[in-house]
Amino acid sequence: MNRVLIVGGHGQLGFELQRSAPRDLDVVVVGRPEIDITDSESIERIVQQYQPGVIINAAAYTAVDKAESEEALAWLVNHKGAENLAAAAARSNSRLIHVSTDFVFEGDNCTPRQPNDAVLPRSVYGKSKLAGESAVLQQAQNALVVRTSWLYSSHGQNFVKTMLRLMGERDSLGIVVDQVGAPTWANMLAETLWGLVATDATGIYHCSNNGVASWYDFAVAIQEEAVSTGLLQRMIAVTPIKSEAYPLPAERPAYSVLDVSATEQLLGRQFPHWRESLRLMLLEIQ
Ligand SMILES: NC(=O)c1ccc[n+]([C@@H]2O[C@H](COP(=O)([O-])OP(=O)(O)OC[C@H]3O[C@@H](n4cnc5c(N)ncnc54)[C@H](OP(=O)(O)O)[C@@H]3O)[C@@H](O)[C@H]2O)c1
Repeated sequence: MNRVLIVGGHGQLGFELQRSAPRDLDVVVVGRPEIDITDSESIERIVQQYQPGVIINAAAYTAVDKAESEEALAWLVNHKGAENLAAAAARSNSRLIHVSTDFVFEGDNCTPRQPNDAVLPRSVYGKSKLAGESAVLQQAQNALVVRTSWLYSSHGQNFVKTMLRLMGERDSLGIVVDQVGAPTWANMLAETLWGLVATDATGIYHCSNNGVASWYDFAVAIQEEAVSTGLLQRMIAVTPIKSEAYPLPAERPAYSVLDVSATEQLLGRQFPHWRESLRLMLLEIQ
């Protein structure tokens, strides 16, 4: 089997890809400073060195709110960086698997979004990621773009870890209830990406845990599961609030649930419900 190169190896997804890598694959993991996807020469050097058959891009500018004031950097990494990787993949005849986001959708609907549904990102992050998707699909004929949503993992900073910290420190929390999505364990996404490596799928696919939640629902579940596994010692009051009561620089889609049925069909299995994956992640960090 060809070598698989994971780019962005030190992020949440990169970490999960590394630890769930199938033993029979030759997997190389690179992250900064070894590779900077905004620098074509550093990509070329790594691709020449490892000659991968498949490149998985888990590198991105992911600071959604900061991107509103660091627009040029977000575009450089998420658009130009993705384009650079796709060009290198095309030159070396490697297959690129590129990860993208539910934030490419406007979020004004309330049915799960299909891969080919109309996109209309509202934030700098979403716009820069959409431009990255387009560049990848244009540059590399056999590229695969996998959109995911609301990622969390035991590694790195994310909503679950923030909730655990705040629930340990405070007596009450107000959490946004009018944004709905599908929380996704990066480990589940990583296993799906390994499944997709073994297919010859091209184009856009979606991968998230099944089920739907508001951030409020997710927070309530995190607390319930964390108390039951002993990660938290007591329950605090968690109340639903509207987005306008918690203003953030970046506009988020109100509804960004991804339709994952095509990916499930391709892989011949259903993705677990988000609550089941949340429980496994919390058991892991217990
Ligand atoms: N997090 C979410 O909720 C979420 C939701 C939907 C989709 N996604 C997508 O899922 C993918 C993985 O996200 P994640 O949560 O694992 O992100 P993450 O934890 O922020 O990791 C991103 C990684 O990219 C690296 N990186 C940033 N700029 C780079 C550059 N110029 N060259 C090389 N590496 C660079 C970062 O390195 P440094 O640590 O050195 O900055 C970091 O290790 C991304 O494509 C993201 O857009 C994420």
